[in-house]
Amino acid sequence: EDTLPAVYRSTVLHFLRDPGADDDPDAWELFEDGALAVGADGRVRWAGDWSALPEQHRGEVVDHRGKLIVPGFVDTHIHYSQYDMIASFGAQLQDWLQEYVFPTERKFADPDYADRTAGLFLDTLLACGTTTASVYPTVHPASVDAFFAQAHRRGMRMTCGKVLMDKQPDAPDFLSDAGVPQAEERTRQLIARWHRKDRLTYAITPRFAPSSSDEQLAMAGRLLHEFPDVTLQTHAAESRPETASVLARFTDARSYLDVYDQVGMLGPRSIFAHCVHIDDQDRSRLATTGAAIAFCPTSNLFLGSGLFDLAAARDAGVRVGLGTDCGAGTSYSMLRTLNEAYKVVMLKELTKPPHRRTTLSALRGFYLATLGGAEALHLDNHIGNFRPGKEADFIVLNWTATPTLAHRTALARTFQERLFAQMILGDDRSIAATYLMGRRVP
Ligand code: GUN
Ligand code: ZN
Repeated sequence: EDTLPAVYRSTVLHFLRDPGADDDPDAWELFEDGALAVGADGRVRWAGDWSALPEQHRGEVVDHRGKLIVPGFVDTHIHYSQYDMIASFGAQLQDWLQEYVFPTERKFADPDYADRTAGLFLDTLLACGTTTASVYPTVHPASVDAFFAQAHRRGMRMTCGKVLMDKQPDAPDFLSDAGVPQAEERTRQLIARWHRKDRLTYAITPRFAPSSSDEQLAMAGRLLHEFPDVTLQTHAAESRPETASVLARFTDARSYLDVYDQVGMLGPRSIFAHCVHIDDQDRSRLATTGAAIAFCPTSNLFLGSGLFDLAAARDAGVRVGLGTDCGAGTSYSMLRTLNEAYKVVMLKELTKPPHRRTTLSALRGFYLATLGGAEALHLDNHIGNFRPGKEADFIVLNWTATPTLAHRTALARTFQERLFAQMILGDDRSIAATYLMGRRVP
């Protein structure tokens, strides 16, 4: 079944835009007995009802009837460098970094270790149905080379870039850039080597404000403007103590996010993880500049960081994607991540007046995990839905992956109910198949 062109027959769901809190019927397309036609170039040619498949798109048929095809999941924030220390006990953000993260990231000074870990990590993502991610390596240039080489070998659309960090104590000496000129030169070399090499995108990656000198942050903002299509990723306003420490250091900044704004880091190619502790003015700046947020519910709960306000961000017009943020996140599965996103929204909305409360519907959840993520990473020209010409990265979901899911699915009366059961009960066992550019991966 690896011959292209091909037609995949299944229930097919994808999104044209955010269905919002009320499941806007014009924002999504569902074909119960559907067809997804993929060309020899691995791109979508057509998606619709099986019975309406145009003559010119007929081809080898791959039968996935009884299952659900959706675009591959997009994880907008994750650390491949933390593969060994996921599920580390008992600490909040800054202690957790010192105790567990930094000693683990130190191991990436060894290129062979980086190479092995990148391979394991990417295979884990594929098994979870994640076909694209925005990934943090470490400060070591070889950790970027290892990651991009493994992603390239697999044909995955991936974003990554050398972590920039140079200020103690939030950057330990053994993980620190030796001066801004060297960090800049290494970043430039990596951009030249990897950016836009087939499906790869380079992201300028200052770790977070506390671990960078003022000069290094300014350099990151400068490079973002110099290279017209690289992206930028960092962390922002994740925990209360972290946010307080940033405000104590940057005394002329209005807010944590304003520190980044002042060095030109806010723009349509930037994504900020967490943004738990932001206000309306921050949201307005994110929306105006076109910057995005990575919502990382399992991580925010695991580290006790707080409850992200999804409705406020979307209502303000801020692009939002979903991130696992492993190793602070507790699952590589975007389905498990949606499960916890639903609960975070439920608790956050309880802090608002009853008439203003919303919930995270299954449709909006699947939008966030697919097209929403692609939009947040500035990759929606390439991936995120089944519009003709998009790269055919997609997954096949099994409604009966576990006894509990099968039982609940059988009792569901509507498609939305079934999809919600998948969002709450699903995990990597739900992924029946993963396809990259129309080709099934093991
Ligand atoms: N802030 C700075 N670095 C990190 C990290 O590695 N993980 C998380 N969750 N937050 C961070
Ligand atoms: Zn993170």
